[in-house]
Amino acid sequence: MAGGGSVARSEGRKYQGGVTAFVVIACLVAAMGGLMFGYDIGISGGVTSMDSFLRQFFPHVYKKQHGNDDHKENMYCKFDDHLLTLFTSSLYLAALIASFFASATTRRYGRKASMLFGGLVFLAGAVLNGAAVNVAMLIIGRLMLGVGVGFANQSVPVYLSEMAPANLRGALNIGFQMAITIGILAANLINYGTSKIKPGWGWRISLGLAAAPAILFTVGSLFLPDTPNSILERGNHEKAKKMLQRIRGTSNVDEEFQDLVDASTAAKQVEHPWKNFTGRKYRPQLVICTFIPFFQQLTGINVIMFYAPVLFKTLGFGDDASLMSAVITGVVNVVATMVSVYSVDKLGRKALFLEGGVQMIICQVVVAAMIGRGFGTEGEAGDMSKAFAWSWGPLGWLVPSEVCPLEIRSAGQATNVSVNMFFTFVIGQFFLSMLCHMKFGLFLFFGGFVIIMTIFIYYFVPETKNVPIEDMNQVWKEHGFWSKYVSSDNVTTSPP
Ligand code: BGC
Repeated sequence: MAGGGSVARSEGRKYQGGVTAFVVIACLVAAMGGLMFGYDIGISGGVTSMDSFLRQFFPHVYKKQHGNDDHKENMYCKFDDHLLTLFTSSLYLAALIASFFASATTRRYGRKASMLFGGLVFLAGAVLNGAAVNVAMLIIGRLMLGVGVGFANQSVPVYLSEMAPANLRGALNIGFQMAITIGILAANLINYGTSKIKPGWGWRISLGLAAAPAILFTVGSLFLPDTPNSILERGNHEKAKKMLQRIRGTSNVDEEFQDLVDASTAAKQVEHPWKNFTGRKYRPQLVICTFIPFFQQLTGINVIMFYAPVLFKTLGFGDDASLMSAVITGVVNVVATMVSVYSVDKLGRKALFLEGGVQMIICQVVVAAMIGRGFGTEGEAGDMSKAFAWSWGPLGWLVPSEVCPLEIRSAGQATNVSVNMFFTFVIGQFFLSMLCHMKFGLFLFFGGFVIIMTIFIYYFVPETKNVPIEDMNQVWKEHGFWSKYVSSDNVTTSPP
């Protein structure tokens, strides 16, 4: 069997040193990058369901919704408007393009430089959006937010995976997803409050408050140290070793440092990370960094995240109930993420992927059946986001950030971000049309994808829990399917 159940040897080597308060605080601060992304995901669906916002910027959609009876639209098609969806999804196109620039910045100037830049551009976008007086200002603001998200999502997961000790890498990395879910929930709550502001400028607060996570993240990044891996990659041996000693809380870091040095020596031989990344030697990483984000989006999660309020309205819920149901889904999302923080380094990545996959397949079928029969979907939306929150949500950011060797890590992460953003864009842009045409069958379509991705995980994704990041090649070597791509000469190991 092609590596299916094979759990590699690979509770990798154990280094000296442990978890320090310093590393935990640094990771918590960096993870705040996820707040910006999450806030954004949560805010746009609610804002686009507010009448005052629609009246001001998208009057034709407003009219369509409130049209007189003889002009009543099919309920599945009420919100199907390309300009409106472009408001939601333009951000992801900008993030996609930005992630390639972020890749070069992260490699050449360090992870911290990308984080700072991302925070600042996001802040500018939030100000523009809050002050918007026309659609152009709205869209340009969204594009700037997207650049911020592209830079943050490219650098933060890599930062977390490099700082964390191997045995806690999963939990610390999932701080990023935790921040995403907190951002989504905060946005849902804010929308719930601002939609009640009578004169109808509540949407300005919703959009402008995106500045809050941006300020937290930007100021936080100013105080963060860069990772030892990145310091070494940029040639400062002494400083890198001191940083490693500081984050591990011991002066005895020789073995781990040697692995970092080996990785950095290998990285220096690579002039064109992109050219290398597409070579046979890195095929497993290329496949993982492309398929994981693709599949993450094809779970259909963002249908719930972006459009829950709109979807609930489509199904006949009132404004208040629609926004409230988004809040409930948001709470479930945060709480369920804790399950994965707790279990990812114990049970491993694969067990969570597989369990979450099976649960999501069931949810999609139930949602399709319920919508088909004209009932509400609140409960199922909650179950779906719960299963996603402890599986594909966090693991979609963790696994691609930890499987690449240093020389292609930035390129691998840029691939992950750009594929993720591309399909987030596709779902954001076309979901309402797809719903209009495929109706409840759309959920069966997503369910079909979850079956495929669960099989993919079983056969092609190795277990990476507890394996030191610069020792990861060993995992491919021991994998039933991927071993033929990875010859022993490119397995980085330190001398005995
Ligand atoms: C995904 C987002 C999604 C969010 C939901 C993230 O991991 O990348 O697309 O909206 O999880 O919590």
